[in-house]
Amino acid sequence: MPPRFRPWQECVVYTVWPRSFADGNGDGIGDLPGLTERLDELRWLGVDALWLAPIHPSPNADYGYDVSDYLDVHPDFGTMADFRTLRDELHRRGMRLLLDLVINHTSVRHPWFLASRASRTSAKRDWYHWRARPNDWESIFGGPAWTWDEATGEYYLHLFFPEQPDLDWSNPAVRQALAEIARFWLDEGVDGFRFDALTVLKKEEGLPDVTPGEPGGPRPAWSRFLARPGLLDWVRDFAERAGITRDHLTLGEANGIAATDAPAWVGEPQGPLSALLHFELWHIDTTDAQGRPGLDTRAFSDTARSWYRALAPHGALPALYLENHDLPRIVSRWAPPERRAQAAKAFAAATYLQRGLAVLYQGQELGLPNARFTRSSDLRDPLSLRRIAALRAQGMSDAAILAEMNRSARDLSRTPIPWDANRPQAGFSSAEPWQPMDPAHIPLAWRQQREDEDSVLNFYRAILAERHTKRQELLPAGLTTSVPIARQSTTQ
Ligand code: GLC
Ligand code: CA
Repeated sequence: MPPRFRPWQECVVYTVWPRSFADGNGDGIGDLPGLTERLDELRWLGVDALWLAPIHPSPNADYGYDVSDYLDVHPDFGTMADFRTLRDELHRRGMRLLLDLVINHTSVRHPWFLASRASRTSAKRDWYHWRARPNDWESIFGGPAWTWDEATGEYYLHLFFPEQPDLDWSNPAVRQALAEIARFWLDEGVDGFRFDALTVLKKEEGLPDVTPGEPGGPRPAWSRFLARPGLLDWVRDFAERAGITRDHLTLGEANGIAATDAPAWVGEPQGPLSALLHFELWHIDTTDAQGRPGLDTRAFSDTARSWYRALAPHGALPALYLENHDLPRIVSRWAPPERRAQAAKAFAAATYLQRGLAVLYQGQELGLPNARFTRSSDLRDPLSLRRIAALRAQGMSDAAILAEMNRSARDLSRTPIPWDANRPQAGFSSAEPWQPMDPAHIPLAWRQQREDEDSVLNFYRAILAERHTKRQELLPAGLTTSVPIARQSTTQ
């Protein structure tokens, strides 16, 4: 008998940023075959599901988050056949597969946008936001949220990079087209999705300016497009069109959704998603009088308590996550250098012994600190490159720029994973990796930690095993709930 799926509510989801996970074909870029080879390790760790950052063809203006073809696999990562092998090898081990669906925007090179920008009368013109005059919105990645299109003499809206034009979700044809993409992947056997940038899909009608003469004074920059009323109805409509049910495992990137509003999204009976990835731990970093890093432990525990209390009565649980591909590493953010291993274990225990959907990010289980960059030419994230150029233009010195990048860049958590300290490129690849591995990461390689009983990796494994075997006892003192443990258990 093949193993059964674990009930998803208390699954352990492991986030893979495929480009840096494991290279199977020796071109220096992580890929699906490399990932498939590592599934036994992930199972050993206690992982039940993988969420893969986008694997589709993309010009990589935002490393995969600018999709030019939603129905295929980026050649850097392999082929559809490689995808199916990965899927089958996961299912054989009782593990689930989640794809990251980028539904707020496409690449400028996606055929929909090419058609939309072809002329003002194009049938796809109203799939995106076009205006004769831009409003005052700022892009989340900096700079104006509008870019001029010479050919058709109008501006288009992009809340992220200019290479990522926002789809117009008020258009039901757009929701339908995106739903068909989700359906395609469900038919391919994926078990769910992580929805990218979910809370900015809905813009305030008429796209009004943020700033001028509102009663009550200026409004925060994001007020016109973050978690707007009515967003949930659109998401529900999309999920229904796609055939997404509560038996699928779905995570929403949920910047701007408060715990008190979360039950409508994930609660029984009508919430369309499984869990929300809130942003409340993003800004709890502190420094002491000596400038040593730490965290606001009160904010940490208040967040945990408020999400659990808001959700448990509705038959839902919080997502428990600390790291992802957009954030620096927690041991660098929240612990002084000499205590990193201890701190990694403490953060793991404090987080993953709570009830909820555990979400880990590759390298977190090794306690990796931020990669340290000694020259800015080793940074790869387009957001970093843009920031470097902007800081240079402001006259900042190279040393100061590097210091800033070593504090905040997304590259800090996106470098290649060390698998075996005794192999070339620490076992990540047989070739020069697409981005250098931090030499300080090599002694923390997976293989060496696996052999060391006291390692962060083995601690994670113990914590995750505890979750799997003692689920009932993980209830926080004083809280009882009737959360259904086994909403569904699918056999393969
Ligand atoms: C999300 C992703 C991030 C990406 C952005 C635009 O925040 O996590 O990596 O750059 O959306 O798609
Ligand atoms: Ca490769």
